[in-house]
Amino acid sequence: MDFSALRGDFPTMRTDKGVYLDSACQTLRPDSVIEAVVEYYERYPVCGGRSVHHLANEVSVRVDETREALNGFFGGESPGSFVFTKNTTEAINTVAFGLGLGKGDAVVTTDSEHNSNYVPWLTLRDAAGIEMRMSRSGSDGVFDLESFKAAMDRRVKLVSMCQCSNVTGCVVPIKAVAEIAHDYGARVLVDGSQAAPHMKVDMEDLDVDFYAMSVHKMLGPSGMGVLYGKGECLGGLRALQYGGGTVGLVTYGSVDFAPVPDRFEAGLQNYAGIFGTKAAVEYLAKAGMDNIARNDAELLRYMSSKTEDVKGLSVVGPEDPDARCALMSFNIEGLGAHDVAMMLDSIDGIMVRSGMHCAHPFFVSRKVEGSVRASVYLYNNREDIDRFAAALAKIAETFGGSRSRPPRG
Ligand code: ALA
Repeated sequence: MDFSALRGDFPTMRTDKGVYLDSACQTLRPDSVIEAVVEYYERYPVCGGRSVHHLANEVSVRVDETREALNGFFGGESPGSFVFTKNTTEAINTVAFGLGLGKGDAVVTTDSEHNSNYVPWLTLRDAAGIEMRMSRSGSDGVFDLESFKAAMDRRVKLVSMCQCSNVTGCVVPIKAVAEIAHDYGARVLVDGSQAAPHMKVDMEDLDVDFYAMSVHKMLGPSGMGVLYGKGECLGGLRALQYGGGTVGLVTYGSVDFAPVPDRFEAGLQNYAGIFGTKAAVEYLAKAGMDNIARNDAELLRYMSSKTEDVKGLSVVGPEDPDARCALMSFNIEGLGAHDVAMMLDSIDGIMVRSGMHCAHPFFVSRKVEGSVRASVYLYNNREDIDRFAAALAKIAETFGGSRSRPPRG
């Protein structure tokens, strides 16, 4: 697969002279996704699932088609197993507050989660008395299956983990985790926001109960997410929001809830986002997830080789690029992460993310103030990495501390 041709599908790449290395935050969008969003507003700018006129019917059909596309792409139980949310955070919250967890119940996460996979559990700890446990990773952030096993017992009702860390890029062996969790009778929720854009995710193969993802990290429109759930798991979940669209018949004294997935989609939906989601999934399917994973890995290896001599650079996470999924977090000795990020931007228009990446506990526990994060996707190429490495070397030489990088070994 020649990824260099794909670059031309992205208006930002055609018009901007910068280097976009912030795809772990949000990806760029190809023409087909933008056209799908515009198509909604130009041709069918109405509500789905309610009125029976021809424009509304078209929107309802497109909503169904998007669920079918998601189901085909992710190997789910059925199209109805895909609930539209506005992001991974909303999807995680839907599970967290829908399971009815209470005193005596435990939830297991890892120590490398995004805030969105801590805050709901901390809130439930304080409000409902649940216990929060953590699987500890090694000093470089690599997941430790033994530590996970040690956190498990029959009080654990849910294991909630990212499949790929947004800080270190480390990948969790979700299939093995799910097998162990199920042996203890626990359900499994995966934060797939950093994994789903970069690797083949097959729900049946992983055998997870819930899987949350952000469509805007996988070429889709902003503010679109998806919660996947097995039928029996979604069926047992209380909704996060109540209102129109979630019900069968309501009287002054009673409410009859609609089946899954409608029960979770209160009020008018982001139809333009749903149109764009289908286009994004189709784009990814055409590029091929195995091809995308291979291309990401190749770019990351190249990034490591081009930056290994940068003065004072230390990687946050494993040094081995093959142990990281599509990103490199790092610091330059003597420089703050935001300063490095701003200098990269001003020297050559290089866009990276800096700070704690909404993963505060990871940094606070390690007494590290943050990091710079360069993340790649299918539209990046070696020239992007060359420009990034050259600007970084210049910054480190000119403004960094005096320590040279210790030799590897
Ligand atoms: N969670 C997103 C990131 O890691 C916003 O950048």
